[in-house]
Amino acid sequence: MQAHARAQALRAALAEHNHRYYVLDEPSISDAQYDAIFNELVELETAHPDLRTLDSPTQRVGGAALCVFASVAHQVPMLSIRTETDTTAAGATAFDERVRNALALPADAPALEYLAELKFDGLAISLRYEKGVLVRAATRGDGQTGEDVTQNVRTIRQIPLKLNALDPQFSDSIIEVRGEIYMRRDDFSALNEAQDLAGEERYVNPRNTAAGAIRQLDSSLTAKRRLSFFTYGLGEVVGWQIPATQAQMLDALSKLGFPVESSRSVCIGANALAAFYNAVAQRRNLLPFEIDGVVYKLNSRALQNELGFVSREPRWAVAHKFPPEEALSIVETIDVQVGRTGAITPVARLRPVFVGGATVTNATLHNEDELARKDVRVGDTVIIRRAGDVIPEVVRSLPEFRPLSETDGTPLHQAWRVPAQCPECGAAVLRAETEAVARCSGGVSCPAQLRGALLHFASRRAMDIEGLGDKIVEQMVANKMVRSPADLYALGVSNIAALDRMAEKSATNLLDAIEKSKDTTLARFIFSLGIRHVGETTAKDLAKHFGDIDALMDAPGDALSQVHDVGPVVAASIVAFFAQPNNKEVVELLRARGVRWFVQVGMQGATAPLTGKTFVLTGTLPSLSRDEAQRLIEAAGGKVTTSVSKKTHFVLAGDEAGSKLTKAAELGVTVIDEAALHALLEGK
Ligand code: IVH
Repeated sequence: MQAHARAQALRAALAEHNHRYYVLDEPSISDAQYDAIFNELVELETAHPDLRTLDSPTQRVGGAALCVFASVAHQVPMLSIRTETDTTAAGATAFDERVRNALALPADAPALEYLAELKFDGLAISLRYEKGVLVRAATRGDGQTGEDVTQNVRTIRQIPLKLNALDPQFSDSIIEVRGEIYMRRDDFSALNEAQDLAGEERYVNPRNTAAGAIRQLDSSLTAKRRLSFFTYGLGEVVGWQIPATQAQMLDALSKLGFPVESSRSVCIGANALAAFYNAVAQRRNLLPFEIDGVVYKLNSRALQNELGFVSREPRWAVAHKFPPEEALSIVETIDVQVGRTGAITPVARLRPVFVGGATVTNATLHNEDELARKDVRVGDTVIIRRAGDVIPEVVRSLPEFRPLSETDGTPLHQAWRVPAQCPECGAAVLRAETEAVARCSGGVSCPAQLRGALLHFASRRAMDIEGLGDKIVEQMVANKMVRSPADLYALGVSNIAALDRMAEKSATNLLDAIEKSKDTTLARFIFSLGIRHVGETTAKDLAKHFGDIDALMDAPGDALSQVHDVGPVVAASIVAFFAQPNNKEVVELLRARGVRWFVQVGMQGATAPLTGKTFVLTGTLPSLSRDEAQRLIEAAGGKVTTSVSKKTHFVLAGDEAGSKLTKAAELGVTVIDEAALHALLEGK
């Protein structure tokens, strides 16, 4: 039957593009093309309901609400692992010693091989695939019996509904894949911004939010959360050859279409584990998701089986946690900060406390409502958290320690109130009915808003102007040297050198950085404008969809809503931004002063010289920094990745290039130098 074959082909195409988009982050078709295929499948399934299969991508939107979750007995129990209590690197040695003793290895036996992974802070899940198709998703529950959350899990785009490479090997197989459902930090912040906007309470942390979304009886609510998934293990497996090591198993699962986190590392011996622990602890806050430690697993499955379990925990694995990210402090005062969008944020000035690897003296209290709900007052003892967002926050106050008046026993300090006037510019502070945040109404005539706009414009992920930090921006604004981002491109050495703590040399450097920033990408440019609700991802989506700034500036709300993930609030904010003549003028002025990007023609056919080319950078280049080289490549439509594979087109190598160069030689990847990069950029 023709319709049947067509539906199958459409499903296969959607599964492939879904995997490319959500797992590999390497889409090969535009959103509009994806939507066209999707819509064709929806029409086909509407006309022929019998074609609607469980693994159809149309089934990801959620279905009818349940009254209760069914129970699922786990064929292979979902165990937890022992936690190493020593949060110094010595924890790794203790684990290695236990394993060596349990294997009865002599002291001089060679070091053992482990796989070190991240410990994701989310919700454990077991995904059961029969004949290659996802049939059941279950929570851990008590380890023996969990809850059937299949409908909810189907809405998570990173989870394949059908396994890749559906060849005969899956014909009679059962594969239970285990892993963690979590929420990325950016998705979590976006959610809380939306909550603020709706005047609703903020979510506390990504883990609880992800867990709450999975425990929703109404899967259409789960579908609205952006959840992600990483796999780290297996449950019941029948009819599929499990690879011999944990590392190979994860590689195999990645090939089947599952997201596997890339920091995992084979470590030989305890020192290598400790080094992994320290290295991950260092960059923990830079990861796009939260972790609460690392996990070590003996790599060989044969040795794992030899060791087995003790009191329901595997002897061959351990969770090595990081020190806590919460601590107690005392609020000394509550100040007001004015952000780049005029948002008035109360900030607690704290008695210094060491938490999450740094000394914290300030913490955000988010907004008036949030502060009122938490009722944080001067003098209060509070729980401070420094994690995910890096900006420390006050989790809650402990009212039992609140200082009271000795005379009448009432609290010494009143509840905090939002000021009526902006402390920076004196303009009225207003709060729209629909918003949780009060804002200064001064616009860019408020120095605080202008400073924020400039710092955002210059930030690394926006125009990336190195050296334009807050001290300099503060002076530029105070001296009225700069009234909009466009004015940065009209500065001369003498203007800058006249600033405090600026000499001729540093002024020239800053001017060079400003000059270099002119070559950018459309996505960075859009992001740099600081349009409310337009973060980096939305900026990329907008750039891809519109191809140029003029089309975006003129786009009406309904055209904007066509863009992936742009809802009515974001669309309205973009329209409102460009409806302000002075914002359009700034864009024009930026262009007139030389800011430029490669124009993408259509949605993928691109004129940019490096479109579709993947680069890996290694070593020190003669004149460009890595960031600069990366920006040039991306501006020309290319992509920069971190490891060399057969898919890499060029390895850009400088002095002291290391193993990446060797790898390039092995795989026959073309190696170029900086001069050759410039030639490529010029389309030669
Ligand atoms: S392995 C038999 N690996 O941490 C071993 N667990 O108690 C099963 N977790 O609830 C767990 N990241 O949900 C493993 N890379 C990782 C993990 C991980 C997070 C969670 C897991 C479990 C808890 C460990």
